[in-house]
Amino acid sequence: MTMTQTASETVGARHPLAPLTVTEAATACQLALGSGVGRGTRVVYCALVEPPKEAVLGWDGQAVPREVLCVLYDRSTQTTWLVTVCLDDQSVASRITGEQPPIMVEEWVANAEQIKSDPGFRAALARRGITDMSCVQVDPWPASNFGLDIDASGRRLARGVAYVLDGPGGNPYARPVENLVAIADRDTGEVLEIFDGEPVPVPAASGRYDAASQGILRELAPLEIVQPLGPGFTTSDGCLRWGPWQMRVSMHPIEGLVLHEICYIDGERTRPVIYRASMPEMVVPYGSASPNHWWKNAFDAGDGGLGKAANSLELGCDCLGEIVYLDAVQVDEDGNASTLPRAICLHEEDYGVLWKHTDLASGTSEVRRSRRMVVSSFATVSNYDYGFFWYFYLDGTIAAEVKLTGIIQTQAVQPGARVPYANPVTPELAGPHHQHMFCYRLDMCLDGPVNSVYEVDAMPVPQGPANPYGNAFTAQATLLETESAAQRMAAPERARCWKVVNHRSLNACGEPVGYKLIPQASAPLLAQEPAAITARAAFATKHLWVTPYHADEQRPAGDFPNQHPGGAGLPAWTAADRPVTDTDIVLWHTVGTTHFCQPEDFPVMPCEYTGFTLKPAGFFDGNPAIDLAPPLRSHCRTGA
Ligand code: CO
Repeated sequence: MTMTQTASETVGARHPLAPLTVTEAATACQLALGSGVGRGTRVVYCALVEPPKEAVLGWDGQAVPREVLCVLYDRSTQTTWLVTVCLDDQSVASRITGEQPPIMVEEWVANAEQIKSDPGFRAALARRGITDMSCVQVDPWPASNFGLDIDASGRRLARGVAYVLDGPGGNPYARPVENLVAIADRDTGEVLEIFDGEPVPVPAASGRYDAASQGILRELAPLEIVQPLGPGFTTSDGCLRWGPWQMRVSMHPIEGLVLHEICYIDGERTRPVIYRASMPEMVVPYGSASPNHWWKNAFDAGDGGLGKAANSLELGCDCLGEIVYLDAVQVDEDGNASTLPRAICLHEEDYGVLWKHTDLASGTSEVRRSRRMVVSSFATVSNYDYGFFWYFYLDGTIAAEVKLTGIIQTQAVQPGARVPYANPVTPELAGPHHQHMFCYRLDMCLDGPVNSVYEVDAMPVPQGPANPYGNAFTAQATLLETESAAQRMAAPERARCWKVVNHRSLNACGEPVGYKLIPQASAPLLAQEPAAITARAAFATKHLWVTPYHADEQRPAGDFPNQHPGGAGLPAWTAADRPVTDTDIVLWHTVGTTHFCQPEDFPVMPCEYTGFTLKPAGFFDGNPAIDLAPPLRSHCRTGA
């Protein structure tokens, strides 16, 4: 059974965080476009303005004003408008920012065609024997900002690279045109500069990854997930309830999947854990010096938008089992709103054994099965596809996982040649080294907003009177008191974790209730000063930052990283070195993969994973899953 639920167009008091409806989004865009901005102004995105935290936490069921932020761009005057529309009284407040908004889909499409039709670019392609333009694809990338004259020109820029398809439906990334880059003005369509280096043969192999291109296919035994009574969760207007968990789920055009007001139902108590959880920025910095790759630094949230790039998911392919989908609302550049069906997938997964013990004396065994609630979405950003998964477990554990798949960026090489800063993936192709850095924003709320963070290290103790046998070790907890002291690196050799506590809420042992953030071992940003990306993606230079909550501080590289010179977001906010103890705090945790490409990544990459775990650490007075019913015994088939 499959259900699709669309945000209802109900009248009356909706929850302050209820997702925008199609009608609300369309109304907001039309009011914004009619608010005195220039004719021909385009809609980049629109999003619900989340009401102040106090209004949400103290919501009494009465209607709260519905406000929408519309980000608009007037190409003719290069003006970025931020228009806040109040849907209740249709009032509009607008201001202009000097920053570059995210890249619009229509710009991407138009810029690709403009570069393709540029005579200089065509001449460079012709020099390589490429004259059939119907087979050429241009990707007009985010231009980044390197402080060059052209970056400082104030123009809205694209850096475009080309690929040659071997026919309709071909894999462009199998056949890159190397050493050819065009810099174009996105607004005028002019090609301003062309880098035309030494030609490299376009690889011959097609790199097709569809089933029809693979010859004989392997079939697997059927595997069905059946829940005869339907899914064990409910949803209503963006609110999800499952087992001990309750939360709201929404899709933000830039941040993608957002979870709000995550609570654990602990007996009679509804206990808040996280006020808002999201992955508001990511960056993919390339570590190659070659002409087509050194400048590639995509901020796939802020440069484009993960919600705008969200997939419409397919049952049986993207998702298996008893699925409930949530739709998302999207707007186009004209301000027309529409529904993206099946944008968010909700389902339960069996997760093996949760706890077990066999009593050897009596021969009896107690075992309980683990199950997790999965909230997920997928976004496709040019060549890469990213799955964003949140897992909620019966023992209070929360985990975030990114699944990285899709197609790597490729570099054409002379057959059999080796090139620096890239590994071979086929005899004709290399994959430049790069990283994928994901910055999670966790607005913590453990039993209320007043929280603190300790760094906890496993520390050996020197042998001496306190440790006569030399074997003892301790858990050394250091309170992170200020923003500067709370910029931290992971340390797997110390089993380092960061424990969020509420000093005002004590457990049965008399200790502050806590949750520990357990990082995965991953490299921080590898680019070094003075590389421009170190300032533009400063968030990725540390695994953890802690800031006091401020409503305006939502994106770790600033609200508009496209072509931004750097320094916005976390480095700017934390310069004040504000205290972060016993206050409303936000954790910013960057996880990532450092991708040295390999043949197995091509033509399409099996999922690579990164993420983190939040585990209760004294939040409960015992195993919170001790009361689970034993599993039903069924489906036992002995070996043949
Ligand atoms: Co990669």
